[in-house]
Amino acid sequence: MSDYIENLKWRYATKQFDSDKELEESKIEILLDSVQLSASSYGMQPYEVLVIKDKETRRKLHPAAFEQPQILDASYVLVFCANTIIDEAYLDEYVENIVSTRGMKKEDLSGMKEMIMNAVISQPQENKIEWAKRQAYLALGNLLSAAAHYKIDVCPMEGFDPTQFNQILELEGKNLATAVIATVGYRSEEDQLQHAKKVRKPKEKLFHRL
Ligand SMILES: Cc1cc2nc3c(=O)[nH]c(=O)nc-3n(C[C@H](O)[C@H](O)[C@H](O)COP(=O)(O)O)c2cc1C
Repeated sequence: MSDYIENLKWRYATKQFDSDKELEESKIEILLDSVQLSASSYGMQPYEVLVIKDKETRRKLHPAAFEQPQILDASYVLVFCANTIIDEAYLDEYVENIVSTRGMKKEDLSGMKEMIMNAVISQPQENKIEWAKRQAYLALGNLLSAAAHYKIDVCPMEGFDPTQFNQILELEGKNLATAVIATVGYRSEEDQLQHAKKVRKPKEKLFHRL
């Protein structure tokens, strides 16, 4: 079996982190790189990620995540947030980024801008936020794979109250809304779930080859 698949089998949604084993700065940077390099619809990356190490903030978030222990025991809590204002100015900033990164002329991108205006910017607000959240989940997926490769433990988490998270982290004023979170660190040897067999659909139910 390939090492890549072996590592994916090694990973599991960690319930108990070893709070004495802190994730190295260089490792969190690699994981953040994997998030930054994630694919997104039109390349717009309509999300931002809070990288929370601060213990006090995590203590505040803990009850809002149904007191799941990962919030306190992992080295980091990453909060993937959808951008809530995705308007023409937001798109212009993206266009400017392409212009400066690739040395292009703004005029060359006018067709692209018009297409994104029609396909995304003109959508109702709820659709845009849902779309933005979906893009954040893709970044979470990339983070999970990268972490497995480096034998770093992660628990992806939806078990929290987004309204409370938004309030505690004062996200409304930053035009952000919590989509999904991930706790990152190293597993505790005591976490028995690491020994459990993976429960997955059989391939014949998952894949349909046409
Ligand atoms: C989007 C998402 C949300 C999840 N939320 C939680 C959570 O709040 N708490 C938790 O302990 N596990 C959570 N999980 C972990 C899943 O239960 C786990 O990934 C699944 O059972 C498969 O097991 P494995 O990841 O260990 O292979 C979540 C997973 C995903 C992808």
